[in-house]
Amino acid sequence: MSQFSSIIPRPLELEVGQGNFQISRDTPLIADTPVAQDAIAWFVGEFYSQSGISLRQSGEGASGAITMRLQSDLAPENYVLSIRPEGVEIRASEASGFFYGAVSLLQCVPFESPIGVGEWQLPTLEIRDAPRFGWRGLMLDSVRHFQPLSWVKKFIDVMALHKFNVLHWHLTDDQGWRVEIDKYPVLTSVSAWRKQSRVGHELNGGDDDFDGRPHGGFYSKQQLRDVVAYAAARGITIVPEIEMPGHATSVIAAYPDLSCTGGPFEVSPKWGIFDDVFCAGNDDVFRFLEDVLNEVLEIFPSQFIHVGGDECHKTRWKECPKCQARIKAEGLADENELQSWFVRHFDTFLSAKGRRLIGWDEILEGGLAQNAAVMSWRGEEGGVAAAKAGHDVVMAPHQQTYLDYYQTSNRDGEPLSIGGDLPLSKVYAYEPIPQSLSADEAKHVLGGQGQLWTEYMLRPESVEYMAFPRACALAEALWSSVQPRDFDEFLSRLEIHLRLLDRMNVNYRPLNK
Ligand code: ACM
Ligand code: ZN
Repeated sequence: MSQFSSIIPRPLELEVGQGNFQISRDTPLIADTPVAQDAIAWFVGEFYSQSGISLRQSGEGASGAITMRLQSDLAPENYVLSIRPEGVEIRASEASGFFYGAVSLLQCVPFESPIGVGEWQLPTLEIRDAPRFGWRGLMLDSVRHFQPLSWVKKFIDVMALHKFNVLHWHLTDDQGWRVEIDKYPVLTSVSAWRKQSRVGHELNGGDDDFDGRPHGGFYSKQQLRDVVAYAAARGITIVPEIEMPGHATSVIAAYPDLSCTGGPFEVSPKWGIFDDVFCAGNDDVFRFLEDVLNEVLEIFPSQFIHVGGDECHKTRWKECPKCQARIKAEGLADENELQSWFVRHFDTFLSAKGRRLIGWDEILEGGLAQNAAVMSWRGEEGGVAAAKAGHDVVMAPHQQTYLDYYQTSNRDGEPLSIGGDLPLSKVYAYEPIPQSLSADEAKHVLGGQGQLWTEYMLRPESVEYMAFPRACALAEALWSSVQPRDFDEFLSRLEIHLRLLDRMNVNYRPLNK
């Protein structure tokens, strides 16, 4: 297979013609719109990494150029890439379309220079491309193991190469807090650090097997703004996740009064689900979380804000006089409705600020808040129920999208993982629209995403190993048109595509390991 037809995710339409375009150090890059600037800057950088050649940007039309041209009737994210002997043209109506055109163009550049040093032949072709889904995400857990910002940018680079457009960033949990909040500096002096971490698998071995090494870290506001802009220049929106009402141990370790019992607690060195959560009967909890969200909204311009909502044990709420008083005062039936009431509060709060709440599918229990969107992780059922009720949905069923699961049923030689069995072929076959949805209901499925929970990914290289190449397959499941998908044909493209990941120094799991 030649390289040009190895593009991942597979474009909607690709037609090959006669002849070649020659790209060299003299090829000018021209834009007739400032909207294409990010795409051009990205292409110049990536082409340099691949070839050692700095293409020049030029304001004037010229033959033999790569030209970015505005075509306002194209839908957002759509693009046309035309490679002809006399020049290359990328047409789009928005920055993201130009960016995806540039990504596809880069994937057409051969790795070697077969016609001599510094010249590459690109095949004549025409691509018309459009994504199937508007939400093509990966979720990164930077709590269980903290990754430096430089690596987060590398991760974003690799996401961009696959036309992912959402980085759902899991920034708070029992084991740490990773966002600088001016009003509550203790969140970064105390909540961001745990004394030590659980060694080995949570399910085997004793309770006292810890590494004895402190672990933690956080991102400053300036760093976060920087990475938001970095991602935006690559067509990626960062959706931050601030967990509530469960997975809150790192917060209540610093502010025990925000729990039902008053503690004391420590930032958790263990993985799992814990009984101590935010007290739903204490008004201070709502003030605290609103303050935090106000600062989060200043950093992250995303339409959606993720509030977690998963795995909130109700044990303490059942025994807590304040929580029980709240249930009574608000006329709620039980603790599930108390959770709904909690989530509804923040749905109203975020909606008033022009944002939208999204949460894991447990937010359905006890009634879903009016504007809330659901991220369906315990399977498809939550997503189906939400879509049938008219709510938007992002599909993230663990069976097909948990990239922290093992990649092969033969676990010999594989790094310790949480469990599961999710081979590349299963990810590739993933279909985000459940069969039980009507065409109208299916419109509520915004898309899907892969999850990288990092309990067992101690280093960024481990995240890369678990993410790739499965995320390459997921990118295609989310971008490319419906079935039939031919896994063997995908594999033949993937073999070529992996050379790009080699160049980017990505520690992916080899295909024939
Ligand atoms: C989850 O895996 N607890 C969303
Ligand atoms: Zn309580």
